[in-house]
Amino acid sequence: MEEINISVRHDLTRRYSSDNQQDAETIPLAALKALYAKDAETVEITKTNSENNGITESLLAIDSGRYPNVRRLSPFAKKRILVTGGAGFVGSHLVDRLMLMGHDVICVDNFFTGQKANIVHWMGHPNFELIRHDVVDSLLVEVDQIYHLACPASPVHYQSNPVKTLKTGFFGTYNMLGLAKRVKARILIASTSEIYGDPEEHPQKETYWGNVNPIGPRACYDEGKRVAETLAYSYEKQDGVDVRVARIFNTFGPRMNWNDGRVVSNFILQALKDENLTIYGDGQSTRSFQFVLDLIDGLIKLMNSDYSGPVNLGNSEEYTVKDFAEKIIKLVKEQREDQKCTSEIIMLPGLEDDPHRRRPDTSLAKKELGWQPKWSVEDGLKETIGYFQRQIKFFGV
Ligand SMILES: NC(=O)c1ccc[n+]([C@@H]2O[C@H](COP(=O)([O-])OP(=O)(O)OC[C@H]3O[C@@H](n4cnc5c(N)ncnc54)[C@H](O)[C@@H]3O)[C@@H](O)[C@H]2O)c1
Repeated sequence: MEEINISVRHDLTRRYSSDNQQDAETIPLAALKALYAKDAETVEITKTNSENNGITESLLAIDSGRYPNVRRLSPFAKKRILVTGGAGFVGSHLVDRLMLMGHDVICVDNFFTGQKANIVHWMGHPNFELIRHDVVDSLLVEVDQIYHLACPASPVHYQSNPVKTLKTGFFGTYNMLGLAKRVKARILIASTSEIYGDPEEHPQKETYWGNVNPIGPRACYDEGKRVAETLAYSYEKQDGVDVRVARIFNTFGPRMNWNDGRVVSNFILQALKDENLTIYGDGQSTRSFQFVLDLIDGLIKLMNSDYSGPVNLGNSEEYTVKDFAEKIIKLVKEQREDQKCTSEIIMLPGLEDDPHRRRPDTSLAKKELGWQPKWSVEDGLKETIGYFQRQIKFFGV
């Protein structure tokens, strides 16, 4: 009887080959920008229907027949990639990049904080599948790589149901690691700089174990992510699962949720609407912010690298929150048509367990991945301000 070669499906070349992954950074910026600029254009046609008692209708103007050009990969180079949390802020940019690179992408999301608008431009594309699913429940799909991002990331959302956040941190990661084990996929866990808590070491290196209050208001997220890392390395040790862990520092960019209270979106929207910028605390805490497209480069490089320890991904430009607020007021003023911004900065009482200093040491990412952020904070902010200006124009946020 003829021997059937069943090793093809588990061909490691296809799963882990890194040759075409270098291409992640060669996707033209214009192609990426066109996708998030398009978000606001999906609701384009607003008309008053006089036969309908003057009721104003908004028509969704999506031309599902027109997709951005994606690369054509050979069956050996094309991977089946699962992105959990793919309709969220970071996840949707990752979906865009992987789609443009020519892979098959499965986006899983429960739409707690994600939106269909972030991925609508791929709906119906033969390389794209959307599954509404909560990762707290198990999932059976056949894939080569898993980017596990599903988890609310803003304090407003993760604190609204702390027990659910912990369930997402533990069971969500447990389910995805179980899936990775079953299908022999490589899995990247989206961890966070929050695992360092209020750090006593500055800047933070991957070797630092952190200073987290296990019972404070942020604990459901911080400890959820810490246990997610522990689970990942336990699966690696016990079952040989191929894991990658990205410790992501504050990230900003187009498609940030406008109402989730994160510093960058809050400040930009307040400045665009001439409202006062609200700072919690004395404004002397520091933060460093990276532009989302840099993070996507880093995530793809990490996934396709041979390095399996945790890696910081962030921008080491460090600002006090007050200086950062001033910078945003200045940039918004320059970008507004009327060249005005009457917002002022006001201080409110500090938040419990808010970290005082945050800055990544990214030397490991440079050494192991050859990754460093390319976007200056200022250029990223200009791009993000432009995005929110379009959102306000089209949706009147
Ligand atoms: N954005 C940042 O600054 C930052 C910093 C550190 C870590 N991270 C991590 O990166 C990931 C993405 O963050 P983001 O900023 O895009 O947040 P986001 O809230 O925009 O995206 C999270 C996505 O996960 C989905 N989701 C949440 N719980 C889910 C569940 N139980 N099942 C299925 N889907 C679920 C949400 O609907 C959303 O689409 C998160 O894991 C977050 O912890 C982000």
